[in-house]
Amino acid sequence: MRRPVIAIDGPAGSGKSTVAKLVAQRLGFLYIDTGAMYRALTLKALRIKADLSDEAKLGSLARATEIELKQSGGSLKIYLDGKDVTDQIRTPEVTNNVKYIARTKAVRECMVAIQRKLGEQGGAVMEGRDIGTVVLPNADKKFYIDASFDIRAVRRYEELKDGGAAVTEEGIKKDLKVRDESDFSRAIGPLKKADDAILIDTTDLTIEGVVDKVLSLIKA
Ligand code: DC
Repeated sequence: MRRPVIAIDGPAGSGKSTVAKLVAQRLGFLYIDTGAMYRALTLKALRIKADLSDEAKLGSLARATEIELKQSGGSLKIYLDGKDVTDQIRTPEVTNNVKYIARTKAVRECMVAIQRKLGEQGGAVMEGRDIGTVVLPNADKKFYIDASFDIRAVRRYEELKDGGAAVTEEGIKKDLKVRDESDFSRAIGPLKKADDAILIDTTDLTIEGVVDKVLSLIKA
């Protein structure tokens, strides 16, 4: 019997990545981080100094690039053309430029095709912005994980500060606002709750609380 496929969408800082990872672990499912795929392509485009406004070039670049997600122990490793770039795709430079890659139609078509293939096998938790609306409209269960702007900014601030980065709350809020604007207003594949997605607001919930809630809804 084909195992279910779960779609999880939501804005940056909502906690969706942590939730998706833990839910996948608890179910023994594959965890598919689609944001990492856009980040990996952004890293490549920056490395080769591609023109980030040239849609045709970015499309060919996407089609000529191999991006793999490999589960290694409890964590996910991201490979770009055969090389591990798990850490390199999290730099501020990549984060600030991913919007140019993510808004490009030809890139999205290529990414969505790969993501659908990954989801087809079932037994997967796929996380992103357009999973329930575009990538897997027939997913067995869909979740939209949200939280207030302020709490998303605080979480991001604490995460970066704990990682040793020199950040301010003001700076984080400015970056988050820019990311939200590009995520919500993108012409193709914008962040949007699917009509049949279950909304979970994590503002006042702990991660464990959200994970338990998602698991019980999947099993229901
Ligand atoms: O989840 P993340 O913050 O690592 O994602 C990085 C960027 O990739 C995000 O700002 C928007 C883009 N993205 C997207 O356009 N579609 C997805 N399914 C996932 C991410």
